[in-house]
Amino acid sequence: MAKTRSQYVCQECGAVSSRWSGKCEQCDSWNSLVEEAVSVGTPGGLGKKSGGRAAGAGGGAVLNLVELTGAADPPPRLQTGDAELDRVTGGGLVPGSALLIGGDPGIGKSTLLLQTAAKLARGDNGRKPAVVAYVSGEESVDQVRLRAERLEAADAPVQLASGTAVRDILSTFDGPTAPDLLIIDSIQTMYLDTLESAPGTVAQVRGSAQELIGLAKRRGTALILVGHVTKEGSIAGPKVVEHMVDAVLHFEGERGHPFRILRAIKNRFGPADEIGVYEMAGDGLAAVTNPSALFLGQRGEGGGPAPSGTAVFAGIEGSRPVLVEIQALVNPSPLGTPRRTVVGWDTGRLAMVLAVLESRCGINFASQDVFLNVAGGLRLTEPAADLAVAAALISSIAKQPVPGDTVLFGEIGLTGEVRPVPLTPQRLKEAEKLGFDSVVAPFPPARGKSKRTRSALNEHHTKHVTELTAFLGVSRRAKDDA
Ligand code: TYD
Ligand code: MG
Repeated sequence: MAKTRSQYVCQECGAVSSRWSGKCEQCDSWNSLVEEAVSVGTPGGLGKKSGGRAAGAGGGAVLNLVELTGAADPPPRLQTGDAELDRVTGGGLVPGSALLIGGDPGIGKSTLLLQTAAKLARGDNGRKPAVVAYVSGEESVDQVRLRAERLEAADAPVQLASGTAVRDILSTFDGPTAPDLLIIDSIQTMYLDTLESAPGTVAQVRGSAQELIGLAKRRGTALILVGHVTKEGSIAGPKVVEHMVDAVLHFEGERGHPFRILRAIKNRFGPADEIGVYEMAGDGLAAVTNPSALFLGQRGEGGGPAPSGTAVFAGIEGSRPVLVEIQALVNPSPLGTPRRTVVGWDTGRLAMVLAVLESRCGINFASQDVFLNVAGGLRLTEPAADLAVAAALISSIAKQPVPGDTVLFGEIGLTGEVRPVPLTPQRLKEAEKLGFDSVVAPFPPARGKSKRTRSALNEHHTKHVTELTAFLGVSRRAKDDA
């Protein structure tokens, strides 16, 4: 009988401590430590100490050391037939690898995966049908079947099971008949009977993930794990699982909006900043091939009158240009400390843009509430959005609309300088395609013989934020009146 001892594991960050305390010393969350029994010397126990054995002691096999140069084939891919998912994963699922997909409850993770399972199993788009297994720990077989009917996927030969015991999953699939794709919905419902802690705890999630990943590696199966997300938006509990898998995707969206964004957070086999855009309809998720049109929504195709406080940013998400509307509302504040509320952008970045506008353009936001929103539920991370944010802010405080046919992009520095950003031609092309007529942006100086061809847009080259206020027709006097 193996000896057991207690340890306390933070359910937020996975930190292990030998004593209980009210607050996790690692991540400062309260009441997150849960007692777990560990049997000393359990197989697969992560973080096992080397038990006093001197480092470098014998017993192990000698590693086969090779040079960095040498043939390395790109991994084979299991293309899903879902163009968005294939792009986000960098060309399809990789056999023998594990992918974790996280997202708020009800955002559509199970829907996306069931659709994908059906596409692969049917061999849509003339591909060879793949063997796909879908194990649900959250829903009964009947519930999954009902969903499949709604998605018109009920005819697909997907192997479906409801279960939560990892031992059963291993007995079923760990053999020569292992599927090409195994979907586990969700990892938080899975448990290993060799561990004493409850399902959903860090130890169980970590242990179950490890066993399932082992199965995938042994059998060359592509594994997809669904992960729940905490209130703070990270995949619940164990950061460790994010380290164990090869790719992490987030499925995001605003409730009440039909758009969903699939974002690669980590990808060992492809780019980590790609997004896929979907629209949730009554019969499942449909890929959105023109996200700009979606995010600009009712704004129309450009040219129409735009309300003050809005500006269109020509951004890049992953490898694709995306136009989005940035909305600002600047209002005199009744509060001693005015409000700064941001949806879809970085609060610190907003503070910086406000400070630059105050000190370099003399626009005073000190007694104003500032609300900033990226329309359509997209989250922007590019510094290139600075110039469009500044335009929306100036436009709102001066009650002077930004011309509706104009897109903006550019990074703002602390001295008020506007810096060129990557992929300028792609941004211009997308703006042209969507019917915009002019652009306000910094342009990189033409270098040597590779002269930049001008776009069909009316280009307003901007090197400093003061040129932006001039473009918007906001004089210093108007700013003082505001
Ligand atoms: P679901 O895939 O169950 O979310 P998750 O697995 O991330 O928790 O999505 C459930 C939501 O999606 C639910 O509110 C209903 C909605 N939905 C549709 O709008 N259309 C559909 O075809 C389906 C299957 C679900
Ligand atoms: Mg689900």
